[in-house]
Amino acid sequence: MLPTAKIGPYTLPNPLIVAPMAGVTDRPFRLLCRRMGAGLAVSEMVIADSKLWHTRKSRTRMNHQGEPEPRSVQIAGGDPDMLADAARQNAEFGAQIIDINMGCPAKKVCNKAAGSALMKDEKLVQEILEAVVSAVDIPVTLKMRTGWDRDNRNAKTIAKMAEDAGIQALAVHGRTRADKYLGDAEYDTIAEVKASVGIPVFANGDITTPEKARHVLAYTGADGLLIGRGAQGRPWIFREIMHFLETGEHLAAPPLTEVEQILQEHLAELHSFYGEKMGVRIARKHVGWYLQTHDESKQFRSRFNGIEDPLEQKDSIAQYFARLRNGEVFAA
Ligand SMILES: Cc1cc2nc3c(=O)[nH]c(=O)nc-3n(C[C@H](O)[C@H](O)[C@H](O)COP(=O)(O)O)c2cc1C
Repeated sequence: MLPTAKIGPYTLPNPLIVAPMAGVTDRPFRLLCRRMGAGLAVSEMVIADSKLWHTRKSRTRMNHQGEPEPRSVQIAGGDPDMLADAARQNAEFGAQIIDINMGCPAKKVCNKAAGSALMKDEKLVQEILEAVVSAVDIPVTLKMRTGWDRDNRNAKTIAKMAEDAGIQALAVHGRTRADKYLGDAEYDTIAEVKASVGIPVFANGDITTPEKARHVLAYTGADGLLIGRGAQGRPWIFREIMHFLETGEHLAAPPLTEVEQILQEHLAELHSFYGEKMGVRIARKHVGWYLQTHDESKQFRSRFNGIEDPLEQKDSIAQYFARLRNGEVFAA
């Protein structure tokens, strides 16, 4: 039986969430993942200091036009009042869930401890949680790591604190801050967190296959999963996992024609969302991810990365897939 994932008043269509990834989970990617079966997609983090929101980067990050409900916006910072203010303003801009970032290993955001560095200062964590929850009347969620290093895995303490403060759901990445992205994620601490609180807990870290998804759900007892890097260049991972969880059988991999169609639509969205110049640049990393499983793609990618024109990008992808379908090896 699949768990039903709820966040406050929202029942998600399914328990698979796109993990927030700065520079990746922009509106085009979130919409694409939702179309491919994700139950929710959390926005890239918005820095809490609203003095920085006039930049083009911040404005595009706060664009949620056409996104299906519920819209979850992540905020990052280290100052309780600033975070409360950011939550309030983002709720006014259309956020329906506010997610607090205590999961990102970046040392500092705006010269203040933020992200997972906050986990070291439990008193400050409490102040932040209380300030943000009382600032808005929409659900607030918390994303964190298992602790700040392996000797100090305090996720359980913070989870309890969060529940008492009125946080509606937790996402736990199975690494400590000190682990950065090294080693394998561990799921014992996530299972302990889940067993110790009554609010929904979502497990996160290294979930890249349907089997792993089933294992992590069963092992942790979590209410759902957050999937980050496993969705880069493979947004269909959500429908693959859902199919496996529901039937125990693997969905066939998408045929090349479908991969091409998804990629072309994704490119077109990036070009129109960011404008031609920036869209072309942002498209490069996504194309790299889509093609990483194809042997000959490295040669192609280095040429593709030199293209500055959106139409040329589109044509070049069409040629690449035509050659791939014909079984030709791509010659640079
Ligand atoms: C490029 C990149 C950007 C990320 N940005 C954020 C972020 O803005 N906020 C956050 O809470 N976590 C961020 N993360 C962490 C992910 O949400 C997730 O916790 C982590 O990647 C582990 O999940 P995965 O193994 O499924 O990728 C980022 C990760 C990556 C790879």
